[in-house]
Amino acid sequence: MDIYAKCKEFTKADDYKKQGLYPYFIPISENHGNRVVMNGKEILMVGSNNYLGLTKDPRVQEAAIKAIEKYGTSCSGSRFLNGTYELHQELEARLAKFVNKEAALVMGTGYQTNAGAISTLMEERMILITDKTNHSSIFDGVFLGMALNRRVTIKRYQHNDMEDLKRVFENLDPKLPKLIVTDGVFSMEGDVVNLPEMVKLCKEHNCGIYLDDAHGLGVVGDTGRGTMEHYGLFDEVDTMMCTFSKTFSSLGGFVAGRREDINYIQHFSRQLIFSAAIPPANAAAVLASLDILEKEPERVTRLQTIGATMRREFQAMGFDTGESETPIVPILVRDFDKTFAFWTALFENGVYTNAVVPPGVPADRSLLRTSYMATHTDEDLDQVLSLFKKIGTSMGII
Ligand SMILES: Cc1ncc(COP(=O)(O)O)c(C=O)c1O
Repeated sequence: MDIYAKCKEFTKADDYKKQGLYPYFIPISENHGNRVVMNGKEILMVGSNNYLGLTKDPRVQEAAIKAIEKYGTSCSGSRFLNGTYELHQELEARLAKFVNKEAALVMGTGYQTNAGAISTLMEERMILITDKTNHSSIFDGVFLGMALNRRVTIKRYQHNDMEDLKRVFENLDPKLPKLIVTDGVFSMEGDVVNLPEMVKLCKEHNCGIYLDDAHGLGVVGDTGRGTMEHYGLFDEVDTMMCTFSKTFSSLGGFVAGRREDINYIQHFSRQLIFSAAIPPANAAAVLASLDILEKEPERVTRLQTIGATMRREFQAMGFDTGESETPIVPILVRDFDKTFAFWTALFENGVYTNAVVPPGVPADRSLLRTSYMATHTDEDLDQVLSLFKKIGTSMGII
């Protein structure tokens, strides 16, 4: 038995590359914000999570450079032993305040935050309830929690379907502890969780709520405080997390909630304790981005206006944008090969989107994910719309 046989047999990626239809791992050689250079060509970027357009903001870059000058390039260890810097603690205090929670904890990445916080909150004989389409890092957190606690029950409900969630609750032992885990803004299709209905059901069934707002902060809510602000439901969410790799133009993540819950995660999460702290430059970039988000809410307004415009214009052309309510605007193609062909035609004509196909989504939901930045100009948007119209028409999609 050759453990490596499967690697030899995996040729699908190479097959698509040979046909010139491979949309992944394309190196970026220059980043100019809205535009990047790929394969030596300038490309309009509508497939990034740089929602507020801050990765090239001089204030953010300057903060990162200053942090390197003051603290060096690495923390050289875990937060637990030797890697906690004042910057991390300042950031935790600022983030907790921003999301209206008592405390926050900064971790290595958003993925690690979900893996660490969810698995640490899980316990024997509990019931963990999850939306079927939650982000993979949530599922990996759940799998870890299952490995550590063998008698956990997992219940999945249909995507954002509160009737199905009700059905799940009705069949559960009321005495067992329960936690529901959900994305706030769903990353591929840009729809928002039905938090008001979820809160109602969770109150009736004594269930805690853990919200992944990776695509919510800076994107929804009048001042960019995410899904909780969108619905005015800050106190109803027990625990929330967000990544730093999107709105906050850095790398890392944080979890926020009641002081005692965060203290518990801080002292029991293996992902925090056995992995290095985010470097000073990353923490400083988040702090600078947070300053801008707080001082310039007009960026959030502009981003939301762009999302509304793009949804309206795409729909008017006859594209299916699903249930999107945010600046993540999917174009549902519903066919694997057509999605790759559409993506390639857009890319060859200077526009970068994300091709999303199985196993990322079910086959009949294959789509092109477009996502916008507050810094996109009206001319950028016109370029995207006219190209989609031309190619969508020639491919018979609209
Ligand atoms: C909903 C959601 N949660 C968590 C993550 C993980 O964040 P990170 O990229 O910081 O690991 C992502 C990023 O792709 C995400 O989309």
